[in-house]
Amino acid sequence: MDSPDSKKVMCITGATDGIGKTAALELAKAGCTLALVGRNPDKGNRVLEEIIRDSGNENIRFHICDLSLMEAVRKLAKELQTDYDRLDVLLNNAGAYFSEFEKTDEGFERTFALNHLSYFLLTDLLLDILEKTGNARIVNVASDAHQGAELSFENLQGFDGYKGWPAYCKSKLANIMYTYELDRRISGKGITANSLHPGFVDTNFGNNNTGTVRVGLNAAKKVGAISPEKGALTSIYLASSPEVEGVSGKYFYKCKQKNSNKASYVKSDQEKLWQITETYLA
Ligand SMILES: NC(=O)c1ccc[n+]([C@@H]2O[C@H](COP(=O)([O-])OP(=O)(O)OC[C@H]3O[C@@H](n4cnc5c(N)ncnc54)[C@H](OP(=O)(O)O)[C@@H]3O)[C@@H](O)[C@H]2O)c1
Repeated sequence: MDSPDSKKVMCITGATDGIGKTAALELAKAGCTLALVGRNPDKGNRVLEEIIRDSGNENIRFHICDLSLMEAVRKLAKELQTDYDRLDVLLNNAGAYFSEFEKTDEGFERTFALNHLSYFLLTDLLLDILEKTGNARIVNVASDAHQGAELSFENLQGFDGYKGWPAYCKSKLANIMYTYELDRRISGKGITANSLHPGFVDTNFGNNNTGTVRVGLNAAKKVGAISPEKGALTSIYLASSPEVEGVSGKYFYKCKQKNSNKASYVKSDQEKLWQITETYLA
């Protein structure tokens, strides 16, 4: 007998490692059709084979995209629209922390491009198919690292004095503020949008950095991090649980709603972030 999720099509970004890969395996076991997104073709195809083998589900494909490049995100969105006739869940999960300032070839600061712009653009380009599918869900992986952060609109990309960890925290605050604004804008379209904190999770997170940053993060993971299996639970819950059917515009941790920080609830700032992001992507 088909499982309740067997007709659902879900797109998971950053599905080649960590939380995204673990969520993909569990959703594959539930019988969903999956579009896995990653930037590395060899790793992507290895993970694809592994997930098919371990889940027994063959309805899974790998799509290549460097999500820090908006041209690639636009290409990915077209590919997904061509390859699938429905999209029930978009799980925006790919993200990273860059301790040093880097600019993408398109001129954006890399944290901002990957962690914020890609969520915004991919979602925007897939809204039509999500709406057409009906009862669709957008799930944005944010972080409690946002708690002490506030956006500075005059220096949103950190061009004027970049600091890696604050830039990461701000990008995760942007994920939450964006989700609140998105929720208002998709009201009545039969789509929900929520964001989440996965916990401090023992993944490959931070290993793109070198030196003390990398060593320190890995030492902290050894002491305090939870497994990717535990870290993926809230993403899986928001993507698939009937308990959150119709629930939208909320922030979750451990499969429960929680408050995000005070700055995240300022509506005028949510709108401003939206407008500025649109101008970057125009
Ligand atoms: N780990 C934590 O403690 C923690 C806590 C709070 C929030 N988060 C959030 O959880 C999400 C997943 O992180 P994780 O911990 O699972 O990290 P991870 O193990 O490093 O996995 C990140 C995934 O994103 C992919 N990715 C990175 N850059 C990309 C790019 N330019 N284009 C396409 N894909 C790209 C990676 O691909 P490759 O396999 O090619 O590297 C990988 O599949 C992130 O949004 C992160 O901010 C993590």
